[in-house]
Amino acid sequence: VPSSPRQTVTVDLSDRSYDIVIGDGVLDEAGTRIAPLIGKGPRRLITVTDENVAGLHLARYRAALVAQGLESVDIILPAGEQTKSWRYLEEVLEKTLAARIDRGTLMVAFGGGVIGDLAGFAAALALRGIDYVQIPTTLLAQVDSSVGGKTAIDTPQGKNLVGAFHQPKLVLADTGLLATLSERHRRAGFAEVIKYGLIRDHGFYEWCAANGNAAIAGDAGLLAEAVRRSCEHKADVVQQDEFETTGLRALLNLGHTFGHALEAETGYSERLLHGEAVAIGMVMAFDLSHRMGLVSGQSAGRVRQALATLGMPVDLSALPGLTVDALTAHMAKDKKVKAGTLRFVLVREIGEAFAGSEAPAELVGTVLRNAGAAG
Ligand code: GLY
Repeated sequence: VPSSPRQTVTVDLSDRSYDIVIGDGVLDEAGTRIAPLIGKGPRRLITVTDENVAGLHLARYRAALVAQGLESVDIILPAGEQTKSWRYLEEVLEKTLAARIDRGTLMVAFGGGVIGDLAGFAAALALRGIDYVQIPTTLLAQVDSSVGGKTAIDTPQGKNLVGAFHQPKLVLADTGLLATLSERHRRAGFAEVIKYGLIRDHGFYEWCAANGNAAIAGDAGLLAEAVRRSCEHKADVVQQDEFETTGLRALLNLGHTFGHALEAETGYSERLLHGEAVAIGMVMAFDLSHRMGLVSGQSAGRVRQALATLGMPVDLSALPGLTVDALTAHMAKDKKVKAGTLRFVLVREIGEAFAGSEAPAELVGTVLRNAGAAG
């Protein structure tokens, strides 16, 4: 019997529909929730995870499986963005095939965004596609990357440039696991929560501004609500634009063109977490929108203040040495760039993002300089 309520958000994609089950302790139900998804034959799974998650949570997960007569071959990888690479994709696929899988074998991605993206991609490739389940362990993965079927690795050319759309069969978001994250990681993940408000829901933005610090500090009820409301937004967007063809799903990249450039220039390291880069990037997107005459300076200022109040970085003051030229060069390589022009997700108001047309390069430079970039 669950110790706290469960919330279920359904991603409705006809024959590829699936549930996101949210709540404290959902991990202990992994066996009962996964067992019905496995075909007949050997009741065996492949679980991809990283060393940090394995150390913290693997024993509990295994116990939940064993209780249902399920067995798992565990593939434990180093933690960190460097794992989302050709090398570890190959390792996962080799170990998966060595386990003599068949089309009924299920893969489980047990970890943060790196593990989810990598394992999901391996599942899309193994035997031309096997089913998989996401068990996201970070706030960022619970509110964004585990939902919607985008899978990928990074290559020397850039982030997420090789991948596939492959929807999971189930997402188990155990909000209790978020207590084992550092406050810094919860704070960074919360940038992806407030992002939904900034893109499409002014009311949710206000809720995030009012409740964000308590959620980040660890209030379980607020965290679960943040995850549920974020997943409802993600599901709604993915249902309407699964393959990012209409422009709707692309709005989820608010702040990401700037953010990816900042991450690239800081080496995808602990110096700047993805969510922190997105927070700075969203402030920049509002500033750019303001300089293009699209949103008031007052709204742009309010967003900047709200993110700062939530303890997120809003400029480059803690990241000395970044230059306008280097950042612009990275943005020109971003996959959101079409035909060499810089395109951004822009805003008309808080809660009203849209896919922008070309942004003038000199204004982009001004935005970067205004945030503290040199040059
Ligand atoms: N993380 C953005 C998307 O799934 O479309």
